[in-house]
Amino acid sequence: MSLAEVLGSHRVVVTVGSGGVGKTTTAAAMAVHAAMDGRKVLCLTIDPARRLANSLGLDEMTTSEQDVPSSLFETHGLQCKGSLSAMMLDTKRTFDDLVARHASSEEARDRILNNQIYKYVASSLAGTQEYMAMEKLHEVRKDPTWDLVVLDTPPTASALDFLTAPERLIDAIDSPAMRWFLQVFEGAGKEAFGLVGRGATVLLRGIGKITGIEFLEQVAEFVSGINDLFGGFKERAEQVSDALRSPEVAFVLVTSPNPLAIGEARFFSDKLQEAGMKREAIIINQVHTLIPEPNISSEAQVAELRMVLPESLDAADIHPRLSEALKLERRWAVADRTEVERLNEQVGAETHIVEVPAFDEDVHDLAALAKVASYLTMAS
Ligand SMILES: Nc1ncnc2c1ncn2[C@@H]1O[C@H](COP(=O)(O)OP(=O)(O)OP(=O)(O)O)[C@@H](O)[C@H]1O
Ligand SMILES: [Mg+2]
Repeated sequence: MSLAEVLGSHRVVVTVGSGGVGKTTTAAAMAVHAAMDGRKVLCLTIDPARRLANSLGLDEMTTSEQDVPSSLFETHGLQCKGSLSAMMLDTKRTFDDLVARHASSEEARDRILNNQIYKYVASSLAGTQEYMAMEKLHEVRKDPTWDLVVLDTPPTASALDFLTAPERLIDAIDSPAMRWFLQVFEGAGKEAFGLVGRGATVLLRGIGKITGIEFLEQVAEFVSGINDLFGGFKERAEQVSDALRSPEVAFVLVTSPNPLAIGEARFFSDKLQEAGMKREAIIINQVHTLIPEPNISSEAQVAELRMVLPESLDAADIHPRLSEALKLERRWAVADRTEVERLNEQVGAETHIVEVPAFDEDVHDLAALAKVASYLTMAS
């Protein structure tokens, strides 16, 4: 299935891949394509990237949805037959909503939301961001406002963190340490609190300036509050996990031509497969292309180059320097080509692979995103 078909036939498309490979950029480019193609699209990002906001004609990404004006498309000579909105995920708010939905009473809800430990966990616990992205995905998937939601995932060191996020979050909250805290609080006399509190405060310094008894009270309140939600919460994590396996959700792996990134993409691809999730395509982004060696022998050509190069550069240096730079660029292109071909041989038969060249400059406006999209959806 081509990427254009993937975008046309799914309700959710998720970009995954290691850090810096272009997940945010390609997610936005796919959203732009689908919107131009007539779909009502939400581009949901984790990245507050100002450049992305600016590319979409927005001052900044916000945690409420913003429409990309169709006039912006027209400014760039493009036509948007559908609509495009963008929104940044707010991890803490998504967690708050989840608590509000599952708490047994308003009082129980407020007790958790105002709890110091909760505030720490909701914004800092490893895996929370990934889980909340999945949680949000589960929520917007059913929202009839959108035909398609393109979800950009957080810059996880390992893309694998993402898949296991629901389980890991449950594990952390349901961990022996948390249960131990609760037992200490319930079982020990008040005099024990100071001691345990001190040790624990050192461990969880990130929580803030609370100590001793106050700290343990907060922990106990948090744990009992979470217990109150736990049935619903665990069930919800299972639903989120199932949602990822739904036929209307497609994963697109993004990688650079760097062998390490490709290795990680392949590993992740296998894991997706094993977990029963659909990996619909692989995007190899920022591929250096082989440029033909220009002939700069004529006087006129050197004179032309002279105009764009710094004055400090001696005319005699132009040729050797240029050929050095070209050699480097070509070496890069050859290395990238080798990697691309290897990947095609290995998985090209079963997975659609698309390439996006490395552009001379950052992807900084809607026209550039549309250009990326044209490579993504190019017929092979
Ligand atoms: N094909 C390309 N050519 C040139 N620059 C690109 C290309 N694709 C992405 N970029 C630039 O590379 C940078 C990283 O891209 P992007 O933010 O999309 O990566 P990411 O995978 O989302 O990173 P992170 O893991 O940090 O979230 C950005 O500045 C972007 O403009
Ligand atoms: Mg990103």
